[in-house]
Amino acid sequence: MCGIVGYVGPRDSQAILLAGLARLEYRGYDSAGIAVIDADGDLELRKRAGKLAVLRDDLQAHPMPDGTTGIGHTRWATHGGPTDANAHPHLADDDKLAVIHNGIVENYADLKAGLLSDGYTFLSETDTEVAAVLLGHEYRANGGDLEGAFRTTVSRLEGAFTLLALHEDHPGLVVGARRNSPLVIGLGEGENFLGSDVAAFVEHTRNALAIGQDQIVAITPAAVTVTDFDGDPVEVEPFEVTWDAAAAEKGGWSSFMAKEVSEEPEAVANTIRGRIRDGAVAIPELDGLDDLFRDITRIIVIAAGTAAYAGMVGKYALEQWARIPVDVELAHEFHYRDPVIGPNTLVVSISQSGETMDTLMAVKYAREKGARTLSICNTQGATIPRESDAIVYTHAGPEVAVASTKAFVAQITAQYLLALHIAAVRGTLPANEIADSLRELEAIPAKIQHILDTEQERIEQFAHWMADTRSVLFLGRHVGYPIALEGALKLKEISYIHAEGFAAGELKHGPIALIEPGQPVFVIVPSPREAALLHSKVISNIREIHARGARVIAVAEEGDAAVLPISDEVLHVPIAGPIFQALLTVVPLHIFAMGLATAKGLDVDQPRNLAKSVTVE
Ligand code: G6P
Repeated sequence: MCGIVGYVGPRDSQAILLAGLARLEYRGYDSAGIAVIDADGDLELRKRAGKLAVLRDDLQAHPMPDGTTGIGHTRWATHGGPTDANAHPHLADDDKLAVIHNGIVENYADLKAGLLSDGYTFLSETDTEVAAVLLGHEYRANGGDLEGAFRTTVSRLEGAFTLLALHEDHPGLVVGARRNSPLVIGLGEGENFLGSDVAAFVEHTRNALAIGQDQIVAITPAAVTVTDFDGDPVEVEPFEVTWDAAAAEKGGWSSFMAKEVSEEPEAVANTIRGRIRDGAVAIPELDGLDDLFRDITRIIVIAAGTAAYAGMVGKYALEQWARIPVDVELAHEFHYRDPVIGPNTLVVSISQSGETMDTLMAVKYAREKGARTLSICNTQGATIPRESDAIVYTHAGPEVAVASTKAFVAQITAQYLLALHIAAVRGTLPANEIADSLRELEAIPAKIQHILDTEQERIEQFAHWMADTRSVLFLGRHVGYPIALEGALKLKEISYIHAEGFAAGELKHGPIALIEPGQPVFVIVPSPREAALLHSKVISNIREIHARGARVIAVAEEGDAAVLPISDEVLHVPIAGPIFQALLTVVPLHIFAMGLATAKGLDVDQPRNLAKSVTVE
């Protein structure tokens, strides 16, 4: 939520800032702005409501002097609407100081009242401008020490924030701080970068440093210094970005979402790659955790959005294979209801970004309560894995479209690996069955590819016909239930159509009242060969809605004859065991949502009101 980029070096910064913002726009697109210190040492500012393209066009039509020190921001509005005035950067100290911010300053009203009574005035409704004015005030009070003023300022702020600032009197210097919001450093040759994530600077350098909680960074072209809020130096962790800039480019695809759906086979394959040896799971990150896995009596999976549905799928695998009770909780609900947890609880968080504030807060809370924490995350250097005892990275590559797709299948894959590993440690599954399951998992990428190759066009065509639909229901049983929820969420997120997912067995307890002639209902049908009992139950559920006039769209195994007479449309998936089927049946639903949103002429990558990385609670 809100993207931040900073640059100091020999090059003019505007193009670098704008390119960085383009890569961070998934974090918010209500407004965009940049501030640079120009060649004459003056601070130049340009900011515009709307997507980055508006700012870009404005700069093209009315060029602004360039300079080699700059900061840029793309906003997801919290305090104050998406207007030019509320756009970042915000200025202070007689327009010599510029500040950008990601997060929420919770005590901004108190601080603002104090500053107003000191005679300061404000141009926006934002909490950020309060931080900027406070920084200007401290800067004047301490006689022009920007880093010192920054320390005093951030120590007075409550809430979550990443802040960057530059001052006209200090060309070649950008200072930043973070608490509960992301900030990473990119190390260049004679130039340095700051960004909300590595995408901001990956085209210039893959050498990065992850800044810890409550730390302040100052970058100049030649140096990077990191201190805590008291000014004491701290060690920072270097890491190398494992993907290159091209991975975060749209390439020839019509949208990032189209590209990312096409990468679902690869996301699964890369998450498995190098992690299976001699028919067993071999994940180095899990070395040394055997005692923990033996001692735990319970697993709680916490996540939000699509990641939570991935968690619900993982529950079936963890319980069936590792024989541990698993609860899946929405992070924001878990945190605020005094859950019963302790040292024998393993809290597994799932997050593509590793920055979702709800999930982060829940992880911290779980640790405070004595639970052990394991993070399943797709983003190197992100906050949640840093706050966890153990990490299993998904290797889906950068995901840019707001609606998560390839990360979802990677999150499920990582949980299957984890479940099979814990099963081996606890002795709950014979080695040959673990090996069989791993073989089945390794076969999944080719099966997803088969769906893309044989069904995608037809599903897109079908979605096109359905573009005027006002409501769609999704039904599933077993792992098909969370897949139904995911199908409905994806459709809501990007096509703005009312959609609901239900457990198929729950139908008769209420949702069946929604069925009227013509109501489209997607039904996730288990494999008739691998899950005959579940299959027959779902077939009965289809009969119930078919009899009431529903328009049934079955997502079913190739060759499933039972669905044909009672379905209006069948979207085919290859055969897979009951648990693995989740990785296949979700693919047609992702394609459908994307196809329908595209048919409606909507921006599938940047749906209204949403942001990819939700760093506010
Ligand atoms: C937002 C996004 C969703 C995502 C959720 C969790 O709501 O729009 O696509 O599933 O956050 O994000 P995370 O990064 O924690 O997986």
